[in-house]
Amino acid sequence: MNIMPSNFEVLNLALDLKILQPQILHTEQISSTNTYFLQHHSYPNGTVLLADYQTGGKGRHGRMWHSPPEQALLFSVLLTERCNRAFLHVYTFLAAVAVFEGLEMLGGGAFKLDLKWPNDVLLEGHKLCGILVQNRLVGNEMSQIVIGIGINVNQPANFFIGELSQGTSLNIALGRKLDRVEVLKQVLVGLDHWLFILGDSGEIAIFNRWKALCSSIGKRVLVNDGRQIYTGIFKDLSNQGGLVLETGGHCRVFYAADVTLTKETSDVGCN
Ligand code: BTN
Repeated sequence: MNIMPSNFEVLNLALDLKILQPQILHTEQISSTNTYFLQHHSYPNGTVLLADYQTGGKGRHGRMWHSPPEQALLFSVLLTERCNRAFLHVYTFLAAVAVFEGLEMLGGGAFKLDLKWPNDVLLEGHKLCGILVQNRLVGNEMSQIVIGIGINVNQPANFFIGELSQGTSLNIALGRKLDRVEVLKQVLVGLDHWLFILGDSGEIAIFNRWKALCSSIGKRVLVNDGRQIYTGIFKDLSNQGGLVLETGGHCRVFYAADVTLTKETSDVGCN
């Protein structure tokens, strides 16, 4: 049985959801919403945990994810059903699609979003959202998947300096502050929709939508795997969500763990 910690409250956002739980857990402060779900196993499939502030927010590749209190949208979604190891990779793409669509709806055409392989949502070329999908294994079986999403909502421009200079926020793009719960609602509706589609139509539907929203597909890109920089055409996503790069007449597949990607800025028309 789930015993609710005393510093959690329950938000009822009155959303029409199929997969996600209608009641959202909220806390003012936590180490990391992802870590919490990985350490507490009694919550039902589709539980969402929202935090105003994380003291130890996790990013990819062991990095920290920093956001000042009450300015970013920081939440995780717990999945305990259909947790198949073979499909883990698809959740990153699913979350990116849901965030893209939710924020585009919110922006009403006021800004241009893009997807950057494998897990970023960009606004005018700057990072607006990061996604971290983690899983818990019991023996060889995957028992739970956690989709962690951090969206920069109300941070001012002077937050994005130094190592954060690649970031941006909705506040900067729109010139006004937003209600984080309104942003959350848009994204949850999208997540719920795409989780349903995944169950109904499978991974291919997610990959196809991601590819349709990613402006780099079919364009010339640079892929840096930490050892070497490759140039080629971003042809496709592999079945495992890898980046398929056509280079020198053959295709090479890169995986999320060891690749960074930057578009060429020279004469190939990438933007
Ligand atoms: C990245 O490195 O781009 C991924 C960042 C993911 C951050 C989110 S914030 C909510 C959730 N809880 C965490 O500790 N991390 C994710």
